Amino acid sequence: MRAGEKAIPCKIRRATEDDIPGVMDVNLKSLPENYWYSFYLQMLQNWPEAFLVCEAGGRIVAYSMSRVETTSDPVLLGESEELDVTDRRSLLSRIADAITEALKAPLDHEYRRVGHLVSIAVIEEYRRKGIGSLLLSETLRVMREIYKVHSIYLEVRVSNTPAIRLYEKFGFKKARIIKGYYMDGEDAYVMVKKLI
Ligand code: ACO
Ligand code: ZN
Repeated sequence: MRAGEKAIPCKIRRATEDDIPGVMDVNLKSLPENYWYSFYLQMLQNWPEAFLVCEAGGRIVAYSMSRVETTSDPVLLGESEELDVTDRRSLLSRIADAITEALKAPLDHEYRRVGHLVSIAVIEEYRRKGIGSLLLSETLRVMREIYKVHSIYLEVRVSNTPAIRLYEKFGFKKARIIKGYYMDGEDAYVMVKKLI
């Protein structure tokens, strides 16, 4: 360990099917966005390299799961963002640009592979010890080296400062706002990091 590095209090490894109940437990304790068992199982079966857990004393204390999708959306590809609309004029010119783009879309919009970080969480007692960073950096490595995606994106609540800070630390940029994305009406930022 180099000076200034934190000792990570758990072991990061790929998840197995036996870990799913533990992952569900961490998710229920950490986030209002919950999923059913078969959703986790499908994530694990399809993208096993991108489903990571952190285990301490035989217990799952953190997880991260991601999948691979294909898209031609330039925002998700990290090639454009929609956040700097400040006045009516730039909004109108953006609409004009979008129409022009849409008309030539079949010609020059390629579909590319993108990573989607679906969910990451660390139980409260284990936060701020570098586990989220470790899970995220390993996810980025797997997405780049194994799944060979063009970019990686995620949605996050606009109020979730800890998570937004973590993503920004790894070079993710806010690229879009989705109004009322969450069940309780909160907006989401779409954050994107280009990998290629
Ligand atoms: N306030 C401000 N910045 C924070 C905070 C905080 N409470 N927590 C983390 N950060 C930022 C800091 O920049 C930190 O670096 P530093 O400690 O050197 O200052 C950086 O993130 C990395 O911190 P880690 O210790 O690596 O992150 P941690 O293990 O605490 O995990 C996480 C962060 C996953 C966001 C955790 O807080 C958590 O589980 N929160 C609840 C669940 C959640 O919100 N998940 C994300 C939802 S969005 C999605 O899943 C796509
Ligand atoms: Zn998502």
